[in-house]
Amino acid sequence: MGNSIEVLKTTDLESGHMKAVMIKEQDILIANVGNVYYTVSNICPHRAGKLSDGKLDGTIVECPVHGSRFNIANGKVIRRLNGGFAGKLLGLFKVISNINTYKTEVEGDSIKVEL
Ligand code: FES
Repeated sequence: MGNSIEVLKTTDLESGHMKAVMIKEQDILIANVGNVYYTVSNICPHRAGKLSDGKLDGTIVECPVHGSRFNIANGKVIRRLNGGFAGKLLGLFKVISNINTYKTEVEGDSIKVEL
């Protein structure tokens, strides 16, 4: 990996959990899903909710503020807001964008991320 940085040890993050980490002034979220590690932006593109304070279900993270959901495997938004009328309207105009993903790999017991 090019400019990868160790962000956590594998022992710091159990499967099914996620953690926020500040690296190079970027707020990122690292998740362990069945011992596969994913790294995405920790900031919801709607109103800057902290995704790490939300819920993780497989590779789907739900924003704790208004309930938008993102797939952390590819960064795609899969539900805008809580799915109600406002969510459908925003979905129509694509107001809520996908989230950034970052290359993540494990070397020994280090989780490394390319930023
Ligand atoms: S801040 Fe995340 S859905 Fe509104």
